Amino acid sequence: MLHEVPGRAGAASPGAQSASLFARGQAVFPDGTTRATVERDPTPRYVLKGEGAFLVDVDGQRFLDLNNNFTTLIHGHGYAPALEAVARLLRDGTCFSNPTAHEIDLAELLVERIPAVEQIRFVNTGTEAVMFAIKAARAFTGRPCIAKIEGAYHGAYDWAEAGQGGTPSTWGSPEAPVAVPAYAGTPASVADEVVILRFNDAEGARRRIAAAADRLACILLDPMPSRGGLIPPDPDFIAAVVETARQYGILVVCDEVLNLRQSYRGASARYGIEPDLIAAGKIIGGGFPIGAIGGSSRVMSVFDGSAGRAKVAQGGTFSANPVSMVAGRVSMEDMTEMAFTRLETMGDRLRTSLTAAIERHDARYVISGVASLFRIHPKQTLPRDYREAHATADEAASMKAMSRFFRDEGIILPAGAAACLSTPMTDADIDKIANTFDRFLATAPSEGEAR
Ligand SMILES: Cc1ncc(COP(=O)(O)O)c(C=O)c1O
Repeated sequence: MLHEVPGRAGAASPGAQSASLFARGQAVFPDGTTRATVERDPTPRYVLKGEGAFLVDVDGQRFLDLNNNFTTLIHGHGYAPALEAVARLLRDGTCFSNPTAHEIDLAELLVERIPAVEQIRFVNTGTEAVMFAIKAARAFTGRPCIAKIEGAYHGAYDWAEAGQGGTPSTWGSPEAPVAVPAYAGTPASVADEVVILRFNDAEGARRRIAAAADRLACILLDPMPSRGGLIPPDPDFIAAVVETARQYGILVVCDEVLNLRQSYRGASARYGIEPDLIAAGKIIGGGFPIGAIGGSSRVMSVFDGSAGRAKVAQGGTFSANPVSMVAGRVSMEDMTEMAFTRLETMGDRLRTSLTAAIERHDARYVISGVASLFRIHPKQTLPRDYREAHATADEAASMKAMSRFFRDEGIILPAGAAACLSTPMTDADIDKIANTFDRFLATAPSEGEAR
């Protein structure tokens, strides 16, 4: 089904100011921008400023923002308490080669909250956090390989990105999923060092982990992979992964860069996973660049260089810079248990309303997500893994039409990525999202016409 919406597309397309900036950008950047993930329809929209739950583009158009810089801005744009704390700090300096008290302040908060984290180190991105978690696992076990979930996005470290972008023609059989290289020229050895598991396939996970056990340093597990469909894990899948890992002395590394926002204690705690290491990022930086590797003191000791050279010498010019530390501490302090509960209640209400709209229109759509995260799939049934979540060409066209419809109604809805709520959103915003979806479905061909 191609879900076109006659007469609407383009009403809130990027305007003249965005077009002019894009023309300048094209002269200096390979595709006009500096991020592969920038949405363009047909060209990018340039932002003037953010205001709480909203952003304003350079042409003066205002949007409710469900992207929030790919789920980072849990307090929305320009969160005043964080900005004020940063403003007070700036005059004293923005980065030093020495440690500061600010890094301890943020570390103490995270150690107190996240059960798996006894000790922590800070870096600047989620990519780095995942990379150092993998290096720590290799150093701790003395083994070179990792297992990871098909389709899961973990940033740009070669081993972590293998198998993230497979298609029906490249991803191989269900029993032996392929570590599809992320880009041409990826060394073949990377694929030899990555074992791909299918999400929620407990039997397959046991079999494939056991077969490579003596080479595996860790299993890299995002508890609810966004690109895998934003589907929560089955308890028997988690049990299969964790039990098999323990049996063979393989570490479990949970990537919570995105999913830490699921609860006060994070996603692993929510699903009863006890990882050896976690990678964090996004919300813990209060809108500034951050990443973190945390875990048991036993495993984190690979970073200990106090008696000579550490097994993994993790540095980074801007690691633990006070700006990110202070903004992160203030933002996370304000994410109390009550604040997480409020976001989750709004998320539940939204998912219920979206599902009710689907039922009212007998439409071929389905909703996934947990807490403040959601995805709308143009599919009949809820996907269970990356392969089932993968959009056909028609489904991708429907998603695009839906994003356009939302945009024309003043809402940024990411196409194919996780959409998320932020604390400045109100019940009225939730109703607006649900009503917009309802009106979108009203424009769709009826179920009989659709296929
Ligand atoms: C689960 C997950 N891991 C890692 C990353 C990489 O984080 P960053 O973009 O900060 O490098 C992302 C980014 O979206 C992510 O969603």
